[in-house]
Amino acid sequence: MKPAIRVAVTGAAGNIGYALLWRLASGDCFGADQPIILQMLEITPALERLNGVKMELVDSAFPLLHDIVCTDDANVAFKDCSAIFLVGSRPRTKDMDRSDLVAANGPIFTGQGNAIEKSAKKDVKVVVVGNPCNTNALIAMNNAKGLDPRCFSAMTRLDQNRAHGQISEKLGVPVAKVSDVVIWGNHGDTMFPDASWAKVDGAAVTSKVDADWLTGAFEPTVATRGKAVIVARGASSAASAASSAVDHMRDWWQGSHGRMVSMAIPSQGWYGVPKGLIFSFPCICEGGDYRVVTDLEIDDRTREQIARNVAALSEERDAVANLL
Ligand code: NAD
Ligand code: LMR
Repeated sequence: MKPAIRVAVTGAAGNIGYALLWRLASGDCFGADQPIILQMLEITPALERLNGVKMELVDSAFPLLHDIVCTDDANVAFKDCSAIFLVGSRPRTKDMDRSDLVAANGPIFTGQGNAIEKSAKKDVKVVVVGNPCNTNALIAMNNAKGLDPRCFSAMTRLDQNRAHGQISEKLGVPVAKVSDVVIWGNHGDTMFPDASWAKVDGAAVTSKVDADWLTGAFEPTVATRGKAVIVARGASSAASAASSAVDHMRDWWQGSHGRMVSMAIPSQGWYGVPKGLIFSFPCICEGGDYRVVTDLEIDDRTREQIARNVAALSEERDAVANLL
């Protein structure tokens, strides 16, 4: 058995936490031979609820779960961590856009960025789930300047999973046969779910569906699915978000086996996206690292959609300039 790694989850007493922790503890993310120590962060008023979550984790008797830490101190939560899920933050209500959360949630990520730099392992892998996740990741990264920016990412895997789900339903095929939809840009309404390279059972998705369905139904459905879930459920997506966070971290940790996975990561100028913006690109993960697929021949429409996302994310970045 390998030595245990430390894994932090913030907002661990919240809805996503309640679905995420069990998947981490069961070995779904880091592997069936990788024990973990869960380090759970909450705000002080939620510590009692967090203790209830800890009791249930103990009662689940997971062989891979070697210890559990509950704390309201970010330095304790992130101490020696190899992987961190930054979930803790407020979800939107049905009358809000995700970007409306930047004022409420942005400040959380300055202190947490500092604490990650001070306390976590130098090669820690961080995924930000709390919205607006691209800009919150930008804030955390900029408050941890002693770490490699590649330690920081934000989650657009839920959007990719939603896109694969839509194609699977449309074509009546199991979702496992669908791959390689690319999510470009922001986990916000401007995101571009791009099926140009998507495959179903090895064939191009574009040869199986009408172009009108892609632009008129698929793209808006994926981009606004978060709102649709809030309206239908009366609460923000939680189980699907947790599952996608596991997919994101699992592939980063264990590899994506040649599949393109969408991750929002600090741009190095790929596809004309300004350096440093946290932008979703097609990535292939291997050997505990990711590389951006940089040689896709994109058309004018994709270029326009990328520019739209650069504009939206630049606007969010300017709105939090005091936190960077
Ligand atoms: P929730 O309200 O159920 O839970 C959030 C938890 O965070 C609460 O327990 C709260 O006490 C805690 N918290 C608040 N501030 C904190 C801080 N400073 N430190 C630690 N914990 C803190 O919300 P949820 O449904 O779990 O959603 C969490 C976030 O994830 C929201 O911002 C939501 O919009 C976002 N989200 C993102 C995606 C995505 O695809 N990126 C998908 C779904 C939800
Ligand atoms: C989602 O996509 O489900 C989350 O980001 C929640 C939201 O506010 O849309």
